[in-house]
Amino acid sequence: MKRSSWTKSLAMCCMALLLSTYTQAQEHVNGQLWMDTDGQHINAHGGNIIQYNNTYYWYGENRPYSGGSTETGISVYSSADLKTWKNEGVALATSQEAGHDIERGCIMERPKVLYNPKTKKFVMLFHLELKGRGYEAARVAFAVSDSPTGPFQFLRSQRIHANQWPFDMDERAIKAAQQTDASQWKEWWNDAWRKEVNKGMYLWRDMKGGQMSRDMTVYVDDDGKAYHITSSQENLTLLVSELTDDYLNFTGKYNMVAPGGQNEAPCIFKHNGTYWLICSGCTGWSPNEARMFSAKSIWGPWKQHPSPFVGTATGYQNMPANKTFGAQGTYIYQMNGKPIFMADIWNPRHLSQSLHLWLPIEFDANDVPVIRWADKW
Ligand code: GAL
Repeated sequence: MKRSSWTKSLAMCCMALLLSTYTQAQEHVNGQLWMDTDGQHINAHGGNIIQYNNTYYWYGENRPYSGGSTETGISVYSSADLKTWKNEGVALATSQEAGHDIERGCIMERPKVLYNPKTKKFVMLFHLELKGRGYEAARVAFAVSDSPTGPFQFLRSQRIHANQWPFDMDERAIKAAQQTDASQWKEWWNDAWRKEVNKGMYLWRDMKGGQMSRDMTVYVDDDGKAYHITSSQENLTLLVSELTDDYLNFTGKYNMVAPGGQNEAPCIFKHNGTYWLICSGCTGWSPNEARMFSAKSIWGPWKQHPSPFVGTATGYQNMPANKTFGAQGTYIYQMNGKPIFMADIWNPRHLSQSLHLWLPIEFDANDVPVIRWADKW
């Protein structure tokens, strides 16, 4: 071989090598820490992604290395390609003021940010637990910002729908709920108790003070209307609630999904006119089998399907599909029209080190979602 062709081949080899390293760095590798541009694991858990002016923003819980409460606040990262993420700092900071709703040491979970094109504001909703009260406050909180990276201004936290019945509950059903009495039931999980739950026992118990709101997500429909979906009634029942046009409040219209079904970590997307809701069961930080529902309207009726997860997490401790590959969903992001299931592999001892799991959602011959493990994609 002539010298010039040697040089050419060498150059081509180098190019190929460079290109493969580049490709590798540009892939989503599941089951490993995901580094930001500072070489730190991305500390944004239970969150979501939005796109604004050709930049992607990823919001999530900023978790400490040890402990379960929120010290810092809600993180925000930016990216031009959804692969390389720059830490943009704290979007919403905890307060130093004693007694403040978001006093340092509270618990801020599952933040979701929406851009409102009408008001040109970024609106954040999240699950808030007040400092020192475990998970009993069960509130949703609102914050707002003019810029995607914040600082977000905390607006308020609240229980939801005080003195409001689900819009589709008829008089007979309301009467039946009004005859229940939650204070009577010292023992849970038996058939008689379940019957009362299905009548709306916890809905009635919390009618005055407002309904509980824990794990939550938000969804903006094609017509611009936004919805809040939350785990309520002692995590037994999901509520879907319509938000006002500025996304800063509830209109008061809401209904229940799968009463008594114990669904958490709701994630939702629409595909070919069908709404798909993927949730987890209620086992805290431990993984469980995902549940899936579909409906032709956001207000249901919802039909339950088997979990969409199939196979084994071969690249991650061989976690099976019936444990959602060790993860719990947080959001479904439409990446150029392709839905991506975003989830957290929780590490309860070191929550900041919880892993991110992103998997593309595929569809079977009947257009039903299927989620397979992929080491990288
Ligand atoms: C999970 C929930 C998480 C967090 C955790 C606390 O069920 O999805 O967001 O609240 O419980 O144990």
